[in-house]
Amino acid sequence: MSNQAAILKERNAQLTIEERPIPKPGANELLVKNAAFATNPVDWKMQSSGYLIESYPTILGSDIAGTVEAVGSGVTHFKKGDRVTGFADVLVSKNPDNGAFQQYTILKDCAVTKLPRSMSFEEASILPMSVATAAVGVFLALDIPRPPAKHQGGFLVWGASSSVGTAVVQIATSLGYTVYGVCSPRHSAYVKKLGAHETFDYSDPSVVKNITQSLKAANEHAVLAFDTISEHGSAPMCAEVLEAFGGGKLCLTLPYPEDVKKPEGVEVSSTYAARVTTDSQDFGRWLFNEWLEKSLADKTYVPSPAIEKVDGGIQAVQKALDIHKKGLSGKKLVLTV
Ligand SMILES: NC(=O)c1ccc[n+]([C@@H]2O[C@H](COP(=O)([O-])OP(=O)(O)OC[C@H]3O[C@@H](n4cnc5c(N)ncnc54)[C@H](OP(=O)(O)O)[C@@H]3O)[C@@H](O)[C@H]2O)c1
Repeated sequence: MSNQAAILKERNAQLTIEERPIPKPGANELLVKNAAFATNPVDWKMQSSGYLIESYPTILGSDIAGTVEAVGSGVTHFKKGDRVTGFADVLVSKNPDNGAFQQYTILKDCAVTKLPRSMSFEEASILPMSVATAAVGVFLALDIPRPPAKHQGGFLVWGASSSVGTAVVQIATSLGYTVYGVCSPRHSAYVKKLGAHETFDYSDPSVVKNITQSLKAANEHAVLAFDTISEHGSAPMCAEVLEAFGGGKLCLTLPYPEDVKKPEGVEVSSTYAARVTTDSQDFGRWLFNEWLEKSLADKTYVPSPAIEKVDGGIQAVQKALDIHKKGLSGKKLVLTV
């Protein structure tokens, strides 16, 4: 048996396909035979800039779905043959065995979810990064009590059609919040289908005024916001909305712009998906082994956004990263291995 992998040999090099040994799982790890993987913006960012990479060669990729091939001695929740999706954490472990873009990947058991029979590997492969980023932001950065706690009030999601944004919309809706999404009009119906109460067009120069007026007219307060874009001025605009309601908490996916003053009364924090396999493994276990597994089974959480397949398997990972780098709109790229 061999393990074909898309290898990154140096900063900004094209990926090359090579054989490498099939890795062995440690005590709390699983070896997964990948059936599908998805791309994320961090993949092309790491490739082109060397961001988060300590040494070469390495293997990129965070999102996989496949079949468990072997489990370590400490793994109790999974067995050989289980269909799973999981967060491949090469970006923090720095170990190429944990990279997604190969035939076999080692996953930590705290970031793996068993799949319902009805769910394809392609659909499932888009879950780990988006769910981890959204949930770390909601439950750890914004510090919102987990279910079964229920909540009320307005929750602003900027970038509601993005991969992370669609996950935040679903999670915030399931918690009981009234979700206000910021996205292009062409994605409004989809974002509302996922649970958003109302959406606002981010290209409208009056978007901040439109949001605050609409919430005030509905007698609603926005004290929570999640900016999944965190670029092009979105973070200060989210802060402005919160400020209009006397302040609140704002979670970002990227740092707040250094040259813009943070408004008084707005508490700014950041999400980081990889916390599920580092400082917050117990949270990861709850999220992936319990909450997501149950939510997929009872369909209270669905993979989002829509998937677009890139043909060609591992050989086509470079093509997929090149497409992603140009920008995606309301979709996620998936490769069948
Ligand atoms: N901190 C972490 O752990 C973490 C984890 C994952 C991702 N991230 C970062 O989070 C960002 C989002 O990642 P992603 O995978 O969710 O991205 P994505 O799905 O590729 O984002 C594309 C979507 O964002 C929308 N969009 C673009 N600019 C917008 C704006 N100014 N306002 C509102 N919506 C806008 C686009 O809609 P239109 O086409 O309609 O414009 C499109 O649907 C990236 O920078 C990524 O690197 C961070």
